[in-house]
Amino acid sequence: MDLCIEIENLSKKFDDKYALKNISLSFVKGKIVALLGADGSGKTTLLRLIIGLLCPSEGRIKTLSLNPVIQKEKIVLKTGYMPQKFGLYEDLTVIENLNLYAKLKNTKNDFDELLDFTTLKPFKNRLAQNLSGGMKQKLGLACALLAQPELLILDEPSVGVDPLSRLELLELVKKTINKNTSVIWSSSYLDEAFNFDLSIILDKGKVIFEGNTKALGSTYEEFESKVIDLMGGYKKVESKIAKNYHIENYSEKCTVVADNLSKKFGDFWAVKNNSFCIKKGEIFGLLGPNGAGKSTTFKMMCALLKPTSGKGYILGIDVEKEPTKARSYLGYMAQKFSLYSRLSLMDNLNFFAGVYGLFGKDKKKKMERMIEIFDLEQYKTTITSLLPLGFKQRLSLACALIHEPPVLFLDEPTSGVDAIQRREFWNHIKSLSKIGVSVLVTTHFMDEARFCDNISLFYNGKIIALNKPDKLIESAKAKTMQDAFINLIKKANQK
Ligand SMILES: Nc1ncnc2c1ncn2[C@@H]1O[C@H](COP(=O)(O)OP(=O)(O)OP(=O)(O)O)[C@@H](O)[C@H]1O
Ligand SMILES: [Mg+2]
Repeated sequence: MDLCIEIENLSKKFDDKYALKNISLSFVKGKIVALLGADGSGKTTLLRLIIGLLCPSEGRIKTLSLNPVIQKEKIVLKTGYMPQKFGLYEDLTVIENLNLYAKLKNTKNDFDELLDFTTLKPFKNRLAQNLSGGMKQKLGLACALLAQPELLILDEPSVGVDPLSRLELLELVKKTINKNTSVIWSSSYLDEAFNFDLSIILDKGKVIFEGNTKALGSTYEEFESKVIDLMGGYKKVESKIAKNYHIENYSEKCTVVADNLSKKFGDFWAVKNNSFCIKKGEIFGLLGPNGAGKSTTFKMMCALLKPTSGKGYILGIDVEKEPTKARSYLGYMAQKFSLYSRLSLMDNLNFFAGVYGLFGKDKKKKMERMIEIFDLEQYKTTITSLLPLGFKQRLSLACALIHEPPVLFLDEPTSGVDAIQRREFWNHIKSLSKIGVSVLVTTHFMDEARFCDNISLFYNGKIIALNKPDKLIESAKAKTMQDAFINLIKKANQK
């Protein structure tokens, strides 16, 4: 069997901690291999070692018959690498980024197919910094796919990518595969990994599974529960957050109201007449493809962006007129977390507690409570940028909840987070909704969409469907939420 990567007794130590410990693996040519594992299990470290961005502490790697320690430059020319935080140039446009990468890869500037698949064609002259989160992700992927590499290394390529585009991405990568191309695809979406022939699962720096994906289960449900078990399992325990959480009594029927919110950038309408009402204790899902206008809606509802027209209200307070008062009633988790990466975990918590008006003994008590509930003790002094993703997410939620707001805004709170942490997260959210916290949430995980009481499907800045999850599935003549999403978007496209 032809191998594209051979790894023998590989270890990587950072300071005195092993990120990978004595692993041996081989990757067959011409296949897509799923690289799975909880946050912090060593996936990114392994990918970086394979292409020579890191040097092993012990052991040996052969990548495309080359030694990454001394032949990195040769490997780079044969490899397409999409890092987790890819290097797009924010002040260049879409097309300028592609041109630049084409030049680096010594390939011709023929981007038609890539622009079509990424649906970035209409936006090719937009600056990268003005793209939505998912659009940036797709552009990064397009750059990695240039020059038809022999080895394609994708580190969580579909984080933040909408369900329809994820499907298209999978098809595209499958299409590029032939006898000579190999793909390593790290992912926290287990449904995606189920599509690939081979899987590798890492846990705390060790390989705990290597082999045929279907050996873990012939149906998706079996596969998912096996993987979760291998990753340590999930035990549902009562969420502590809702206990002793005090929210004021209020009489408004709708806690959150968007009244014809619209936003125009130049001559482009990012949001057009978005209206909804969220009741006390309701979980309201704002779903939609990348660039639909979800984050723009969140920002207007938090008074971080001035609407071109329309109004937002929180507990009856006009968000634009009284932003400080409105914000005191809400907790906001921004897409890609707005934590201060150079501050420690404790400093971030302290800062946000202050911003939300807490001080003195009360502040200290609430900070301690968050540390306990979210199990953050071990990382108190860690610099935030160095926290495992799952802990960044917990900290972000802790910062949003510290002042016990009756309204919670969550913009893709679980993107890139592993399956176990996602379950824990939703356990907290559901328990909060039970005691009356209203939640506006967006997600590209369709299993999570099922947890919403109502869903607004948003596309091209407009609502195209608003219903309870079951009704939405029924109306789309689909069996699953994923299919409903895809059917409804395709139908809207035909119009
Ligand atoms: N400052 C800006 N200037 C120009 N266009 C912008 C600006 N900010 C956002 N946009 C555009 O508005 C549209 C909506 O973006 P938004 O971030 O709200 O999408 P989204 O629904 O959150 O997508 P995703 O799922 O990818 O996060 C996109 O086409 C985006 O490029
Ligand atoms: Mg967004």
